[in-house]
Amino acid sequence: MRMLHVLVVMYYVISSPSVYCELCQSTCHIVRVKGLKSADCYGKELTRIPQCLSGGIELLDIGHNRIREIFEEDFRPYSYLEHLYLAENILTDIDEKALEYLTSLYTLDLSSTALYKIPSGIFSLPVLNKLRLGGIRNPKMVDDIEEASPVTSPLVYLDLSNNKLKRLPILGEVPTLEVYNVTSNTNVKLNTTMFAGLCNLQELVDINFTTTFDSACDCYVLEQWLTARHVKFTRFNCGFPECTNQVPIDDLNIYNSCRRLHEAQQQQIYKKKLLTNVGISMGTIALFLLIVLYFIIRRHRKQKKKTEEQAQKQRKEAIDDLL
Ligand SMILES: *[C@@H]1O[C@H](CO)[C@@H](O)[C@H](O)[C@H]1NC(C)=O
Ligand SMILES: *[C@@H]1O[C@H](CO)[C@@H](O)[C@H](O)[C@H]1NC(C)=O
Ligand SMILES: *[C@@H]1O[C@H](CO)[C@@H](O)[C@H](O)[C@H]1NC(C)=O
Repeated sequence: MRMLHVLVVMYYVISSPSVYCELCQSTCHIVRVKGLKSADCYGKELTRIPQCLSGGIELLDIGHNRIREIFEEDFRPYSYLEHLYLAENILTDIDEKALEYLTSLYTLDLSSTALYKIPSGIFSLPVLNKLRLGGIRNPKMVDDIEEASPVTSPLVYLDLSNNKLKRLPILGEVPTLEVYNVTSNTNVKLNTTMFAGLCNLQELVDINFTTTFDSACDCYVLEQWLTARHVKFTRFNCGFPECTNQVPIDDLNIYNSCRRLHEAQQQQIYKKKLLTNVGISMGTIALFLLIVLYFIIRRHRKQKKKTEEQAQKQRKEAIDDLL
């Protein structure tokens, strides 16, 4: 009896991964989206990241499921992932180590999850461009984000909408950031320090966004700061304060350092482009020369053959003459 029991347990242990496998293969459709190999697992009541989708998937939409936790090895099979949508899960925990497999990740959507802690590793994903952290409403969120600083991901878009933020985080220098979505947060405290390191910001998306400032002059100074840097934003209601306030020197220093970083990055991109172009041009020239060389050799060979034939003909004629 005992033996049978052990066997039954063993059977379930061995067979359950494959049962789960069949389940996930049939629940998630593999489709092509904009040329990307994609798994569509949206709204399938899944409780874990499926482990048996085909390995090369580049986009995984697993939004609106029942995933509570992401474990260390969950993304091991999916190192080609470029876009990961995890929105609307009851997700509370992401193992920091799980993120280490996501070296190609470009978009990450964690909106409307229940994260206890924003994992700091997301701010150092090497190619992360778009990050959505809207509707998480974790009161520790700002502290978590600041703890993750310095941000080393090349973030271009950051969404912190709908989070009941009391203030914006101080992100440090993020020279890549262009669009910052702070929609639907009310009475958010702002000052220049929160924007000092965002030296390439183009737009503050601030629908249903209200602000507070320590003083009317803080309001005025920030408004001047953003206006001078051509950031698109809705003007604050500062009134007409008489201010002698200047931007704090520390903030200016961070801004200037960020600009230098931005310029260095632009130069690197330019150099890479230039090198690629030079490579392509050299390749084209080399190919052209090869083709020319081929025709020269061919012509030379033909001529040689012709003269040889002529010589032979002459020799033959000479022999014919002799006979
Ligand atoms: C900003 O966030 C809101 C709320 O999540 C969203 O509806 C809106 O599309 C976002 N805007 C941009 C420009 O990303
Ligand atoms: C802006 O606010 C943050 C958070 O409250 C604070 O740490 C920082 O010193 C403030 N900066 C200025 C210039 O007041
Ligand atoms: C802004 O608030 C209004 C009123 O609460 C709401 O109807 C609208 O959808 C909100 N807009 C966004 C972009 O959240």
